[in-house]
Formats: sequence, C-alpha cells, structure tokens
Amino acid sequence: MTAADLARLEQWFAVFVGGFADLDPEGLRNIRLKEEHTHRVVTCMREIAAGEGLDSSQTLLALAIALLHDVGRFPQYRRWRTFRDSESDNHARLSLEVIRDEQLLAGLPEDEQLLIEEAVRFHNLLELPSAVASSADRYSRLIRDADKLDIWWVFLDYYRQPEQERASAVGLGFPDLPEVTPACLDALAAGTIIRLDQARFLNDFKLLQISWVYDLNFESTRRLLRERGYLEQLAATLPDSQQVQDAVQRALASLEEIGSTGR
Ligand SMILES: [Fe+2]
Repeated sequence: MTAADLARLEQWFAVFVGGFADLDPEGLRNIRLKEEHTHRVVTCMREIAAGEGLDSSQTLLALAIALLHDVGRFPQYRRWRTFRDSESDNHARLSLEVIRDEQLLAGLPEDEQLLIEEAVRFHNLLELPSAVASSADRYSRLIRDADKLDIWWVFLDYYRQPEQERASAVGLGFPDLPEVTPACLDALAAGTIIRLDQARFLNDFKLLQISWVYDLNFESTRRLLRERGYLEQLAATLPDSQQVQDAVQRALASLEEIGSTGR
C-alpha cells in the first residue's frame, strides 16, 4: 500500500458516496453521517497508529481499512433505510461485497488484500475469533478501536443537535424512555460487553456503548478515550439510580487502569 494507493481509494470513496446524492433529505442526513464517520475513523486510526508506533506502510494499510470498513453502510441504507444489521444484512459483509464488486484492491499485494478483507469482515463482531492470523488480527483490533472512538463521538453529538437536524438512524430506533433493562445493567456491572440483542431502550444502548471500554485493544485508544471524556459524558445522560451509577463507575475505573487491555 503506497500513499498513491490510498489517494486512489479516497477518490473512489468520494465518487461512491456521491452516488447516493439522490436520496431524500432524511436519507441524505443518514448518508452524510456515515461519510463523516468514515473520515473521522480515518483520523482516529491515524492517531492510534501514531500512538502505537506503526511505521508508514503499516499506517497506510490501517488508514485504507478505516476508509473501507463501512462502505457497505451506503447500499445498506439505500436498500433497507436502516443501519440495524438485524433488520437488514451484516454491514461488514456488505462492505466486502462493495470492495469486491468495485475491485478496489486489485493491484495490491495479495497479503495486503487479505489483511484488508479480514479486518473489514471482523470489524463489527461482538468478539474477534481467536483463530484469526496474527497480522490480520492486529489490523482487526485497530479498526475496532478506531471505529468505537468515533461511534462514541457520533452518539454524543447526536444529542447535542436540535431534534429536527438529527440523523434519524443514529439511535437505532430505541425508545427514549426512563427505563434500564436489568440484564444490561448486570452485564456492565460484571465487567462484560452488552450485546445489542439485550438492549431494549435507549438507556440500554448507552450502557452498551459504555461497556465497549471492556473491548479496547490498545493503550493509545484508552488514552484518547480518557482525554476526550466520552464515557463521563454518556454517563451524565443516564438515570441517577445507584445501580446504574455503580456499574458505570466500574467501567470508568477500568479505563484508569493502565495496561488492562491484557493483549
Ligand atoms: Fe464504522
């Protein structure tokens, strides 16, 4: 992967996203959301790569993965009008389909093609399969961290915006009621990741996003998360019950433990 290869992919991406300009205003907001998300994930990836000491060719590869990881989101939204994979299709699989249909990796060394495809395929799994080859595994972990850093930003930004300007698909349609599902609270309190299928209310989804702190792979990501204070900001929007605050405190405390990624 050279700087010219990455520039070619960036140009392709701009044209590809331009192909969705015919959607209605609500559709356009959701498309723009994913376009901007992609660019910010590339930026997050640059920061993590720098923090982890990747060399320039490793960094270019990581940036290409960041640029391509969500390309399936665009056809997903056009076809199903949702970003909910359970109501449409696995968006990582759709991203691979786009990458192959558009022959985006033609001309790259075969091992790099494989790395990019593996990292894209695994970026949204609840947990990484342990059998992934080691170098692909490193890039899969990088994209998962970079993606999470920006999803926190997207979610917090959503609530800062006036309701009529919000990209409707961000909250995945969870009802914004003053409720919390006990199973979600228990999972967070136990220091585990909440599964999307356990979430029923918007508060559950917020807890789920806080639980991602238990699935970070790199100390640089944890440092960026501490600096940006996303978890504290999310926590401030949750109900003030003792149980909720205890579970959240445990998550916050784990972020302070240096080197607790265990990898
Ligand atoms: Fe993403």
